[in-house]
Amino acid sequence: MHYKSFLFDLDGVLTDTQRFHNLAWQRLAQELGLRFTQQDSEALKGVSRQRALEILLERNHRENDFTAAQREELTDRKNGYYREYLELLRPADVLPGIVPFLHAAQARGILLAVASSSRNASAVLEKLQLTELFDYVADAAKIRRPKPDPEIFLNCAHALALSPAECLGFEDAQAGVEAIHAAGMRAVGIHVAVTTQAPDYPLSSTSELETLWAQDL
Ligand code: BG6
Ligand code: MG
Repeated sequence: MHYKSFLFDLDGVLTDTQRFHNLAWQRLAQELGLRFTQQDSEALKGVSRQRALEILLERNHRENDFTAAQREELTDRKNGYYREYLELLRPADVLPGIVPFLHAAQARGILLAVASSSRNASAVLEKLQLTELFDYVADAAKIRRPKPDPEIFLNCAHALALSPAECLGFEDAQAGVEAIHAAGMRAVGIHVAVTTQAPDYPLSSTSELETLWAQDL
Protein backbone atom coordinates (compact mmCIF):
# COMPACT_ATOMS: atom_id res chain seq x y z
CA MET A 1 0.00 0.00 0.00
CA HIS A 2 1.75 3.18 -1.14
CA TYR A 3 -1.11 5.57 -0.24
CA LYS A 4 -0.48 7.89 2.69
CA SER A 5 -4.04 9.10 3.05
CA PHE A 6 -7.63 8.01 2.49
CA LEU A 7 -10.16 10.74 1.61
CA PHE A 8 -13.75 9.74 2.28
CA ASP A 9 -16.97 11.07 0.93
CA LEU A 10 -19.57 10.97 3.74
CA ASP A 11 -23.15 10.55 2.49
CA GLY A 12 -23.47 7.05 1.04
CA VAL A 13 -19.92 6.01 2.01
CA LEU A 14 -19.50 6.30 5.79
CA THR A 15 -23.25 6.14 6.43
CA ASP A 16 -26.46 5.87 4.47
CA THR A 17 -27.56 9.50 4.85
CA GLN A 18 -27.96 9.66 1.07
CA ARG A 19 -31.38 8.09 1.63
CA PHE A 20 -32.31 11.05 3.88
CA HIS A 21 -31.17 13.49 1.18
CA ASN A 22 -33.33 11.57 -1.31
CA LEU A 23 -36.36 11.62 1.00
CA ALA A 24 -35.96 15.36 1.56
CA TRP A 25 -35.66 16.13 -2.18
CA GLN A 26 -38.59 13.83 -2.91
CA ARG A 27 -40.74 15.67 -0.36
CA LEU A 28 -39.82 19.04 -1.85
CA ALA A 29 -40.38 17.78 -5.41
CA GLN A 30 -43.82 16.53 -4.45
CA GLU A 31 -44.73 19.90 -2.92
CA LEU A 32 -43.65 21.65 -6.14
CA GLY A 33 -45.34 19.11 -8.43
CA LEU A 34 -41.95 18.03 -9.88
CA ARG A 35 -41.03 14.60 -11.18
CA PHE A 36 -38.40 12.81 -9.04
CA THR A 37 -37.33 9.44 -10.41
CA GLN A 38 -34.51 7.09 -9.42
CA GLN A 39 -32.42 8.65 -12.25
CA ASP A 40 -33.13 12.14 -10.97
CA SER A 41 -31.96 11.10 -7.51
CA GLU A 42 -28.70 9.67 -9.00
CA ALA A 43 -28.09 12.98 -10.81
CA LEU A 44 -28.38 14.91 -7.52
CA LYS A 45 -25.96 12.66 -5.63
CA GLY A 46 -22.71 14.19 -4.43
CA VAL A 47 -23.30 17.74 -5.66
CA SER A 48 -23.91 20.81 -3.49
CA ARG A 49 -27.38 21.71 -2.21
CA GLN A 50 -27.69 24.67 -4.60
CA ARG A 51 -26.47 22.71 -7.61
CA ALA A 52 -28.82 19.83 -6.72
CA LEU A 53 -31.80 22.21 -6.83
CA GLU A 54 -30.66 23.58 -10.21
CA ILE A 55 -30.38 20.03 -11.61
CA LEU A 56 -33.82 19.11 -10.26
CA LEU A 57 -35.39 22.22 -11.83
CA GLU A 58 -33.51 21.74 -15.14
CA ARG A 59 -34.63 18.11 -15.40
CA ASN A 60 -38.21 19.34 -14.95
CA HIS A 61 -37.79 22.27 -17.38
CA ARG A 62 -38.60 24.68 -14.54
CA GLU A 63 -35.18 26.39 -14.33
CA ASN A 64 -36.63 29.82 -15.22
CA ASP A 65 -39.55 29.69 -12.82
CA PHE A 66 -37.91 30.72 -9.53
CA THR A 67 -36.12 33.86 -8.32
CA ALA A 68 -32.87 33.68 -6.34
CA ALA A 69 -34.82 34.37 -3.13
CA GLN A 70 -37.30 31.60 -3.91
CA ARG A 71 -34.45 29.17 -4.64
CA GLU A 72 -32.90 30.02 -1.31
CA GLU A 73 -36.21 29.30 0.43
CA LEU A 74 -36.39 25.95 -1.40
CA THR A 75 -32.87 24.82 -0.45
CA ASP A 76 -33.52 25.96 3.15
CA ARG A 77 -36.77 23.99 3.19
CA LYS A 78 -35.03 20.88 1.83
CA ASN A 79 -32.32 21.23 4.46
CA GLY A 80 -34.96 21.54 7.18
CA TYR A 81 -36.47 18.23 6.10
CA TYR A 82 -33.01 16.63 5.95
CA ARG A 83 -32.16 17.86 9.47
CA GLU A 84 -35.46 16.36 10.70
CA TYR A 85 -34.41 12.95 9.33
CA LEU A 86 -30.92 13.35 10.82
CA GLU A 87 -32.51 13.24 14.28
CA LEU A 88 -32.84 9.49 13.69
CA LEU A 89 -29.11 8.98 13.10
CA ARG A 90 -27.19 6.85 15.64
CA PRO A 91 -23.60 5.49 15.87
CA ALA A 92 -25.04 2.10 14.80
CA ASP A 93 -25.79 3.70 11.42
CA VAL A 94 -22.13 3.74 10.37
CA LEU A 95 -22.06 1.37 7.40
CA PRO A 96 -20.69 -2.19 7.88
CA GLY A 97 -16.90 -2.55 7.76
CA ILE A 98 -16.19 1.19 8.05
CA VAL A 99 -14.98 1.37 11.66
CA PRO A 100 -12.61 -1.66 11.41
CA PHE A 101 -11.30 -0.31 8.08
CA LEU A 102 -10.60 3.14 9.59
CA HIS A 103 -8.83 1.54 12.58
CA ALA A 104 -6.75 -0.71 10.32
CA ALA A 105 -5.75 2.32 8.21
CA GLN A 106 -4.75 4.27 11.33
CA ALA A 107 -2.67 1.32 12.53
CA ARG A 108 -0.77 1.52 9.22
CA GLY A 109 -0.15 5.24 9.70
CA ILE A 110 -2.53 6.27 6.91
CA LEU A 111 -4.05 9.73 7.44
CA LEU A 112 -7.83 9.98 7.26
CA ALA A 113 -9.91 12.87 5.93
CA VAL A 114 -13.51 13.63 5.00
CA ALA A 115 -14.20 15.28 1.62
CA SER A 116 -17.95 15.81 1.74
CA SER A 117 -19.98 18.43 -0.15
CA SER A 118 -22.36 18.53 2.79
CA ARG A 119 -22.51 21.55 5.08
CA ASN A 120 -23.99 19.13 7.61
CA ALA A 121 -20.89 16.90 7.56
CA SER A 122 -19.56 17.85 11.02
CA ALA A 123 -23.00 17.35 12.61
CA VAL A 124 -23.33 13.92 10.96
CA LEU A 125 -19.82 12.84 12.07
CA GLU A 126 -20.66 13.92 15.63
CA LYS A 127 -23.90 11.93 15.66
CA LEU A 128 -22.02 8.88 14.39
CA GLN A 129 -19.22 9.44 16.97
CA LEU A 130 -16.63 9.32 14.17
CA THR A 131 -15.14 12.82 14.49
CA GLU A 132 -12.09 11.75 16.51
CA LEU A 133 -10.99 9.22 13.90
CA PHE A 134 -10.31 11.85 11.25
CA ASP A 135 -7.20 13.99 10.87
CA TYR A 136 -9.01 16.54 8.71
CA VAL A 137 -12.59 17.37 7.72
CA ALA A 138 -12.96 19.69 4.73
CA ASP A 139 -15.36 22.60 5.30
CA ALA A 140 -17.91 22.44 2.44
CA ALA A 141 -18.86 26.08 3.10
CA LYS A 142 -15.34 27.15 2.04
CA ILE A 143 -15.29 25.11 -1.17
CA ARG A 144 -16.16 27.33 -4.13
CA ARG A 145 -16.57 24.75 -6.90
CA PRO A 146 -18.66 21.67 -6.10
CA LYS A 147 -17.90 18.09 -7.26
CA PRO A 148 -17.23 17.03 -10.03
CA ASP A 149 -14.66 19.83 -9.64
CA PRO A 150 -11.57 18.45 -7.83
CA GLU A 151 -11.33 21.38 -5.39
CA ILE A 152 -12.49 19.55 -2.24
CA PHE A 153 -10.14 16.58 -2.76
CA LEU A 154 -7.21 18.91 -3.51
CA ASN A 155 -8.13 20.91 -0.38
CA CYS A 156 -7.76 17.70 1.71
CA ALA A 157 -4.42 16.75 0.10
CA HIS A 158 -3.13 20.27 0.74
CA ALA A 159 -4.29 20.25 4.38
CA LEU A 160 -2.48 16.94 4.94
CA ALA A 161 0.61 18.22 3.06
CA LEU A 162 0.47 15.32 0.59
CA SER A 163 0.57 15.11 -3.19
CA PRO A 164 -2.61 13.92 -4.97
CA ALA A 165 -0.92 10.65 -5.98
CA GLU A 166 -0.43 9.82 -2.30
CA CYS A 167 -4.19 10.03 -1.65
CA LEU A 168 -6.90 7.50 -2.38
CA GLY A 169 -10.51 8.75 -2.61
CA PHE A 170 -13.66 6.84 -1.63
CA GLU A 171 -16.96 7.72 -3.30
CA ASP A 172 -20.46 6.43 -4.01
CA ALA A 173 -21.44 9.13 -6.55
CA GLN A 174 -20.50 9.55 -10.17
CA ALA A 175 -19.76 13.27 -9.61
CA GLY A 176 -17.41 12.25 -6.78
CA VAL A 177 -15.47 9.72 -8.86
CA GLU A 178 -15.01 12.40 -11.54
CA ALA A 179 -13.80 14.87 -8.89
CA ILE A 180 -11.24 12.35 -7.53
CA HIS A 181 -9.90 11.62 -11.01
CA ALA A 182 -9.76 15.32 -11.88
CA ALA A 183 -7.65 15.79 -8.73
CA GLY A 184 -5.15 13.27 -10.11
CA MET A 185 -6.11 10.60 -7.55
CA ARG A 186 -7.35 7.03 -7.77
CA ALA A 187 -10.90 6.20 -6.69
CA VAL A 188 -12.50 3.41 -4.72
CA GLY A 189 -16.17 3.23 -5.73
CA ILE A 190 -18.82 2.06 -3.29
CA HIS A 191 -21.74 0.77 -5.33
CA VAL A 192 -21.33 3.51 -7.95
CA ALA A 193 -24.03 3.57 -10.64
CA VAL A 194 -21.52 4.12 -13.46
CA THR A 195 -22.61 6.41 -16.26
CA THR A 196 -19.35 8.11 -17.20
CA GLN A 197 -16.10 7.28 -15.38
CA ALA A 198 -15.60 3.93 -13.68
CA PRO A 199 -13.81 3.90 -10.31
CA ASP A 200 -10.35 2.26 -10.22
CA TYR A 201 -11.36 -0.10 -7.43
CA PRO A 202 -15.10 -0.82 -7.68
CA LEU A 203 -16.72 -2.42 -4.63
CA SER A 204 -20.36 -3.32 -4.22
CA SER A 205 -20.53 -2.35 -0.55
CA THR A 206 -18.47 -1.11 2.40
CA SER A 207 -18.34 -4.71 3.73
CA GLU A 208 -15.80 -5.35 0.94
CA LEU A 209 -13.38 -2.61 2.03
CA GLU A 210 -11.13 -5.07 3.86
CA THR A 211 -10.40 -6.81 0.53
CA LEU A 212 -8.39 -3.71 -0.45
CA TRP A 213 -5.61 -4.67 1.99
CA ALA A 214 -4.91 -7.84 -0.04
CA GLN A 215 -4.53 -5.84 -3.27
CA ASP A 216 -1.29 -4.26 -4.38
CA LEU A 217 -2.67 -0.72 -4.33
C1 BG6 B 1 -23.52 15.35 -0.61
C2 BG6 B 1 -24.78 14.54 -0.92
O1 BG6 B 1 -22.68 14.59 0.19
O2 BG6 B 1 -23.86 16.55 0.05
C3 BG6 B 1 -25.76 15.38 -1.72
O3 BG6 B 1 -24.41 13.41 -1.69
C4 BG6 B 1 -26.04 16.69 -0.98
O4 BG6 B 1 -26.93 14.65 -1.91
C5 BG6 B 1 -24.71 17.40 -0.70
O5 BG6 B 1 -26.85 17.53 -1.79
C6 BG6 B 1 -24.89 18.73 0.05
O6 BG6 B 1 -25.34 18.46 1.35
P1 BG6 B 1 -25.97 19.50 2.37
O7 BG6 B 1 -26.12 18.68 3.63
O8 BG6 B 1 -25.01 20.62 2.52
O9 BG6 B 1 -27.28 19.93 1.80
MG1 MG C 1 -21.84 10.39 -1.47
